[in-house]
Amino acid sequence: MTEPRRSDPCVMVIFGATGDLTKRKLFPALYYLARDGYLPDNFAVLGVSRGEMSSEQYAARMADEIRTFVGDAVDGDLVDWFRKRIYYTGGDFNADKQLFDDIKILLERISSDHAIPSNYFFYLAVPPSLFADVTTKICRHGLAEETDGDWRRVIYEKPFGRDLASAKELNSHVLKILKEDQIYRIDHYLGKETVQNILVFRFGNSIFEPIWNRNFVDHVQITVSENLGVEDRAGYYDRAGALRDMVPNHIFQLITLTAMEPPVSFKADAVRDEQAKILQAMQEYSPEDVLHKTVRGQYAAGSIDGKDAPAYRDEEDVPAASETETYAAMKLAIDNWRWAGVPFYVRTGKRLERKHTTIVIQFKRAPFVLFRNTPVEKLTTNRIVLHIQPDEGITLHFGAKIPGPVVNMGDVDMEFDYADHFGETVSTGYERLLYDCMIGDATLFQRADMVEESWRVVSPVLDVWDALPARDFPNYPAGSWGPSEADDLLEKDGRSWKNDIE
Ligand code: BG6
Repeated sequence: MTEPRRSDPCVMVIFGATGDLTKRKLFPALYYLARDGYLPDNFAVLGVSRGEMSSEQYAARMADEIRTFVGDAVDGDLVDWFRKRIYYTGGDFNADKQLFDDIKILLERISSDHAIPSNYFFYLAVPPSLFADVTTKICRHGLAEETDGDWRRVIYEKPFGRDLASAKELNSHVLKILKEDQIYRIDHYLGKETVQNILVFRFGNSIFEPIWNRNFVDHVQITVSENLGVEDRAGYYDRAGALRDMVPNHIFQLITLTAMEPPVSFKADAVRDEQAKILQAMQEYSPEDVLHKTVRGQYAAGSIDGKDAPAYRDEEDVPAASETETYAAMKLAIDNWRWAGVPFYVRTGKRLERKHTTIVIQFKRAPFVLFRNTPVEKLTTNRIVLHIQPDEGITLHFGAKIPGPVVNMGDVDMEFDYADHFGETVSTGYERLLYDCMIGDATLFQRADMVEESWRVVSPVLDVWDALPARDFPNYPAGSWGPSEADDLLEKDGRSWKNDIE
């Protein structure tokens, strides 16, 4: 095992310091990093938000949040360590020039109090509509200028743009005032252990790559299902919808890692070049394709785990006649030598039967039936299932002889379970990403061209969906596997979704 190296001494500035992400994910992730020896002593956090409060008040509040979200195993000394390193300043991001002057002065003080060089990274946990403006102000106040070997970086939460045109505009704006290597477009799926393991599984073993192509693979299925509804995020979600929220980011990350060629090294650009090639190879949809190769849905009332669940249109802050999709399924084609003719089916939705994220690599049937008692359509097909969450592991599905005097085949699984093998590890998924930003490794972050290629693929779908509002919404009950049209999408190709994967 490689020994961890502590991150560079630095100050993390969080815009959106009182938001949900900060308390649920960012502070617990920093806590776990410190616990495991990845943070240096010369480290501090500066929270920035609208409300007024002192640094002491904010530090006390975040110390409580760390205790809440880390739970019983929390180490009191470590929480105190953090408390001494947490600062706060409040003001209006839009109007207040004073706020950025305050940030600058405070950063100088924090740097000198904790002997931290001027290495700063700014985490924009704010609505995407503020990205451009906050970046401009950071730069205008000289906060992004790298001098004397110190670094300055900016992390953007998703979504980066809401279609191709807005993503291009945002990229062009931030690239005028920052260098690409200062920009970290985050996608928290890349922080998940099992997502990172896709690369290790494929390229750290020699037995999978030879069959990982159109000669052996029949199709690939990716499911990212959630049983939760829109929760308290209707304001954002009703404007976004399932496609924007999940597909060009999380699901496309899963596709690129599953489909990419081996990179020449694990350097950021070598990996991202290969991912970008997959995105470039994704066929764009014609309006006709959108009608035949995509499905959208919105949940009606239903029941999940025995509890009643309301319809999307009855959720808090959702307009009563909302046309927003809470489910999206698509058939995608990757036009390259490895994948020509192999469909990639993807689906995602809220209020589905249960939460699970899986990638199914479905292999072709054996070419010929040797066994008299097993008709060809009953022959087992092989599949590799990468379980991303909540259970993390890998399953290989194959056929075996059922014991007895005649040759009959049965389906069996060979399973690898992360927790059984390596023990439970508690993490938020943000640890690796924050740490990588602090050591300047952008491998797991999206590059400008990747973001734009992703929007290129989904924007035509959004255009058609906007132009033709769905007439059948709501079209799936909460607690089901989504609209029946999504089943038809595969059935017309003689295939079906694998819903019974545990
Ligand atoms: C977020 C989406 O990016 O990912 C949410 O905005 C979604 O709508 C969430 O619920 C899912 O993340 P995870 O890690 O729970 O699969």
